[in-house]
Amino acid sequence: MELSQALSLKYLYSLKMLGIDYLDISELETTLENHQNLPFDINKLRDIVNNCTVCDLSATRKNVVFGEGNLSTKVMFVGEGPGAMEDSSGKPFVGRAGQLLTKMIESVLDIKRENVYIANIVKCRPPNNRVPTPMEATTCKAYLVRQIEIIKPKIIVALGATSYHYLTEDKARISSVRGRVFEFGDFYLIPTYHPSFLLRNPSAKKEAYQDLLKIKSLL
Ligand code: URA
Repeated sequence: MELSQALSLKYLYSLKMLGIDYLDISELETTLENHQNLPFDINKLRDIVNNCTVCDLSATRKNVVFGEGNLSTKVMFVGEGPGAMEDSSGKPFVGRAGQLLTKMIESVLDIKRENVYIANIVKCRPPNNRVPTPMEATTCKAYLVRQIEIIKPKIIVALGATSYHYLTEDKARISSVRGRVFEFGDFYLIPTYHPSFLLRNPSAKKEAYQDLLKIKSLL
């Protein structure tokens, strides 16, 4: 079997795990080809993402939220998708959840926010902050995967269930996997609660704090 066929099968299998049974084959070919052709230069990648119209989210966005931070960082945070404030500013995690995330990074990890990298599963705001569909997440993931390949973090922190599910294709509940350390070849993936969940459920902050201490000990 050729590598491209193996990749296609692997990709189809991952889509099936996400609940997609039917996919237009031309769309699949475009997605795979697009990933292989994406640049390793972050500025060139940003230009491509800023002009992306692959999925319907591009029609309703104000700004693409590419991600930001230190390219030499050891730790990368991946959220779900931009909200209203992020859509308006083009920056990830700048609303209330973002303020909490910044506090968690700076006061527990003792790292300045600008010294980590922050991105999302999808780079355009889903209308009414709905969860990204498998198709939106899967197509946009090509950009995130290239960002990870460029940044080469030691630790990826999946913020919340949606981030964890789309990064790993595992549908386990976030409460049962949070704080666990998953080895993924070149990096560790550690899921924890999404800061928006923590704003709604402050009693879960204790567990998120433990997760951050574990991340700090690995760094
Ligand atoms: N929630 C997210 O998942 N990402 C953001 O950038 C903002 C809020």
